[in-house]
Amino acid sequence: MRLMREIRFSLGPESPSERASINGWAGMPGSDAICPHLILQAVVSGPVEKRTGYLCNIKLIDKLLRENAVEHLRIVFLNARRRCRVAEETVNLWKTLANQSPPTTVLEQVTLQLSPHASVSVSREEPTMARSTYAFEFSAAHRLWCPDMTDLENFATFGRCTNPNGHGHNYVLRVTLKGQPDPRFGTLISLAECERIVTERVIDRFDHKHLNLDCSDFAERNPSVENIAMVIFDLLTDKFPPPATLDRVRVYETPKTWAEYDGKP
Ligand code: NI
Repeated sequence: MRLMREIRFSLGPESPSERASINGWAGMPGSDAICPHLILQAVVSGPVEKRTGYLCNIKLIDKLLRENAVEHLRIVFLNARRRCRVAEETVNLWKTLANQSPPTTVLEQVTLQLSPHASVSVSREEPTMARSTYAFEFSAAHRLWCPDMTDLENFATFGRCTNPNGHGHNYVLRVTLKGQPDPRFGTLISLAECERIVTERVIDRFDHKHLNLDCSDFAERNPSVENIAMVIFDLLTDKFPPPATLDRVRVYETPKTWAEYDGKP
């Protein structure tokens, strides 16, 4: 069994007494300053106790995260002159937390959400590796259509998605890189470099295009969200400088549908 718990907190400049807020939903401590508002998630695994139905009391996970992360990250943030070494900090946080996970539980993964569009995580299988995820968007039209199927079969399979003139989506692409943080910078890659590579390789290629008509990648391949994820993975794999390597891509066709591909069938 796995259980996820997250805490939300700000790295504001308030004094300790001002930081004694009680609204864990919005952020504890909260802040009305302009400052980072972070989310830290922990996934633990273990057996479920028959009597309580609990894997573990979530208050113990909250305590673990709050005591080890909140003030530590605030000091890191306030002392960082130019940038926080965020991937390295998350690996260090993992080391601290993994040794103290609540009784009968094993810490599986820790994720630091920097914003709704960027996060860093570390998992038990590879505790020295950080995984950094960045989100991008592109808008494109497509038509789901297989030339080796009859019209009847195409319409039966794809419904209105096979409308002859196509239809559009605002796709969201989440790119996850993994690696051991560069000791010079404490990150896997600079954000600017990551954005340049993804924009040149993927966004410029697909944004405001008709995937079937404008993009050779889909000349003979139905532009389903699964195929789009596979094509994007192939466009990005081996394109990042060490220590970063491509781990996976996730493509949201709508907020309700995504496909993820990591190079394995
Ligand atoms: Ni569609």
